[in-house]
Amino acid sequence: MFDRIAGRYELLNTVMTAGLHRIWNRKVLAATGLRPGGRALDLACGTGSLTRDIARRVGPRGSVLGVDFSREMLRAAERRPLPNVEYRLGDATKLEGVESGVFDAATIAYGARNIPDLDALFSEMARCVRPGGAVVCLEIARPPGRVASAFYGLWFDKVVPWLGARISGDAAAYSYLPESVKEFVAPDDLAVIMRRNGLQSVTWSRLAGGIITLHRGFRRA
Ligand SMILES: C[S@@+](CC[C@H](N)C(=O)[O-])C[C@H]1O[C@@H](n2cnc3c(N)ncnc32)[C@H](O)[C@@H]1O
Repeated sequence: MFDRIAGRYELLNTVMTAGLHRIWNRKVLAATGLRPGGRALDLACGTGSLTRDIARRVGPRGSVLGVDFSREMLRAAERRPLPNVEYRLGDATKLEGVESGVFDAATIAYGARNIPDLDALFSEMARCVRPGGAVVCLEIARPPGRVASAFYGLWFDKVVPWLGARISGDAAAYSYLPESVKEFVAPDDLAVIMRRNGLQSVTWSRLAGGIITLHRGFRRA
């Protein structure tokens, strides 16, 4: 499915979020605590939207490894190369050849929702970061409260699949999107999963009126 939507993925993101995804990327960057010279791992990196923002943050002395299991998403990412970014084909739940304990931060944006084995995902993220390193997860969520929930239902369940079908030509992928949000674990449960996979001081917050969640934990020493 991700191979099929790769060509129009970033355009649709911009339309669907009215460009707000750039602001949410900045929140992820702040949560990582990454500085110039830092080393980062961006899982389910897709076409590299967040990966490129991280690369600019860590600068020429730093580096980012982006991993995704869709060849076409990575092909789109590689069309916008940066000297301090490497893209690699791989499964986020089984990171073969990715070193343990060397990254200052690991991130995943809009990826966890698509991954059935969240224990495997977060244990891999915890394994790859250094002790004290940050693991950050950005996801779409259903907002609490009747008014927000009604607006969200209209936008996400009706407008997004309609836009997706027209812009990407793939109605199935953009019907899957709201369904996957409905089926994803509750934010408190995601925090529990992170804690039981080697992360401590796990906290989470809602952004944009509750339609986005940002989780962060740190690898135990
Ligand atoms: C909605 S996109 C998010 C892309 C990017 N992180 C962003 O911020 O735009 C989800 C991505 O997760 C990838 N993905 C899903 N399951 C994966 C897995 N087990 N391992 C690696 N990538 C995966 C898909 O190929 C897709 O590129």
